[in-house]
Amino acid sequence: MKSLQHLFENNRKWAQEKLKGNPKIFSDLAKGQQPKYLWIGCSDSRIPAEEILGLNPGELFVHRNIANLFPHTDLNCLSVLEYAVNFLNVEHVIVCGHYGCGGVAAAMKKAQHGLVDNWLRTIRDVHSRERESLNQIAGQEEKYERLVELNTMHQVLNICHTTIVQNVWAKKKKLSVHGWVYDISTGLLKDLNCCISSLDQVDDTHKSLKLH
Ligand code: CO
Repeated sequence: MKSLQHLFENNRKWAQEKLKGNPKIFSDLAKGQQPKYLWIGCSDSRIPAEEILGLNPGELFVHRNIANLFPHTDLNCLSVLEYAVNFLNVEHVIVCGHYGCGGVAAAMKKAQHGLVDNWLRTIRDVHSRERESLNQIAGQEEKYERLVELNTMHQVLNICHTTIVQNVWAKKKKLSVHGWVYDISTGLLKDLNCCISSLDQVDDTHKSLKLH
């Protein structure tokens, strides 16, 4: 614990700075949260979600895991999504991948890295489904970047295929799911323009409801 004393020092200074900006910040936050967005991003240490969006504590509901995945049977992902859309009433879910993602790189290799390979299986599934378009890309680096984008888009679809999201749309509540990619080398976000906001945009096989 003593060896981590500097982190407690940092924390004390951070809290003081925040109070200087707004003396009521922590007492207000203690009353509850009303974030407008759910962020699903990679665990990578170089992507502090609130910071790159210029948001304050209380403004972003965050879920991060290796390679920003949303496997349709993952109880953690499903619980976060349900809580965000049904209890916090967020209207925007953002899946954010990033170039240089170690998880995506690992999933492209014919090598094992341990238990994580089973988690990254989802990316191999994306690779397999998108093989044709990926094979048209000559450079290995370009192929890697494209798989980062495609992985992000497929997680957007996975979210929209849940009964959770489809039930929100059935209630006529607003909900959009966005796919973005962050570039660590520039600090900038890129919109993949794959936003899904209604059941009409979901393929027939993945519709669990009939909406009029
Ligand atoms: Co990553």
